[in-house]
Amino acid sequence: RVMKLRSRDQRPGWVLMFHFLVLVLCEILVARALDNGLARTPTMGWLHWERFLCNLNCKEEPDSCISEQLFMQMAELMVSDGWKDVGYEYLCIDDCWMAPQRDSENRLQADPQRFPGGIRRLANYVHSKGLKLGIYADVGNKTCAGFPGSFGHYDLDAQTFADWGVDLLKFDGCYCDSINHLENGYKYMSLALNRTGRSIVYSCEWPLYLWPFHKPNYTDIRQYCNHWRNFDDVSDSWQSINDILDWTSSRQEEIVDVAGPGGWNDPDMLVIGNFGLSWDQQVTQMALWAIMAAPLLMSNDLRQISPQAKALLQNKDVIAINQDPLGKQGYCLRKEDNTEVWERPLSNLAWAVAVRNLQEIGGPRSYTITIVSLGHGVACNPGCFITQLLPVKKELGFYEWTSSLKTQINPTGTVLFRLEAATIVQKN
Ligand SMILES: *[C@@H]1O[C@H](CO)[C@@H](O)[C@H](O)[C@H]1NC(C)=O
Ligand SMILES: *[C@@H]1O[C@H](CO)[C@@H](O)[C@H](O)[C@H]1NC(C)=O
Ligand SMILES: *[C@@H]1O[C@H](CO)[C@@H](O)[C@H](O)[C@H]1NC(C)=O
Repeated sequence: RVMKLRSRDQRPGWVLMFHFLVLVLCEILVARALDNGLARTPTMGWLHWERFLCNLNCKEEPDSCISEQLFMQMAELMVSDGWKDVGYEYLCIDDCWMAPQRDSENRLQADPQRFPGGIRRLANYVHSKGLKLGIYADVGNKTCAGFPGSFGHYDLDAQTFADWGVDLLKFDGCYCDSINHLENGYKYMSLALNRTGRSIVYSCEWPLYLWPFHKPNYTDIRQYCNHWRNFDDVSDSWQSINDILDWTSSRQEEIVDVAGPGGWNDPDMLVIGNFGLSWDQQVTQMALWAIMAAPLLMSNDLRQISPQAKALLQNKDVIAINQDPLGKQGYCLRKEDNTEVWERPLSNLAWAVAVRNLQEIGGPRSYTITIVSLGHGVACNPGCFITQLLPVKKELGFYEWTSSLKTQINPTGTVLFRLEAATIVQKN
């Protein structure tokens, strides 16, 4: 007898019907998302904060201060170096773009020395490159760095951003004196953006500022925001990446199911291509941000990035997992013996699986995954094709449900796999 493998689209009708019903059910169960048609898959782009912070010193550091020149250079590189082609689309300004005061009509204004052309001209330039422009403001009386906050000016600021042609707003939560002001402010700004009639992705930090007081109502947040920060700012260190992953897995019961097309949990920027992470740690960030369906907002210097980091950030197979149209966030399946296994359901009955070696000592460690334990027992039932995507791509071939997959993982590193469903047909 010959065993023959059948490709996915030849599955019997009832399997496809079942899959369809599951999808419909998922749509109903996932809470209603902000209805602006945006962020159907996690936002991809570049955000200045982690790498460039609040550098105002253009005199001595013209190449790294927060200025229109920085954003124009990044825009050019996003196009010429292939970033836009793989999906990085939003070029985002963070704090410290403003002048210290509003203008005579109370509108926010860019610092005239650092942004001589103003934000509207910068937006035009960014749009001429086929990219979108993101900007930053704050729900309270001041931004975190002390620039004018939007409290009392939500409608005016939303309209100003729309008039300038802004495509994304990151709305921070510093200098806000009460939970009521915070929650009402985030909601009000969402409605104010909608009233401008311009499509503007709304990136919130609402739950991050709420957690110290009480558990956020994510059903509510999802109705107002396209993505929301839950936890501390990322920094360029392994400790920071680990803390974010630990927080995420410890709260996964509360946050995983709320993510879906139109609304995502945001574990903060990708710091790949900077100084603090080893190669294996950069692989871990890329793999796990894909599993978590996280916005992929790089904060690095595209003018000087290693070919290795660039290839990792531009890895199409990994980006495809992050951007999978099913839009379900992955989760930590188990943690044992200094190893974590994460998995994420994908469209067409595929799954992504990431195995992390948490040890920070020794060499590569072996780990064996029992295939039946993956994806509630259905990820590879009755069989699947497995491809290792990270740290290097390898076609591993066909695996049966009852088999196991042996792998080796470097300290602090991650191995990322993609499992494609296949059925076995027995022929005489
Ligand atoms: C504003 O909200 C309405 C209803 O929720 C929606 O249909 C419309 O597309 C939104 N407009 C924008 C610009 O986001
Ligand atoms: C902003 O400052 C005013 C005046 O001090 C105060 O009444 C108001 O509550 C503050 N708003 C926020 C959101 O902190
Ligand atoms: C959360 O918000 C939703 C939508 O506003 C509301 O229906 C629900 O009752 C809230 N849940 C809790 C526990 O307050």
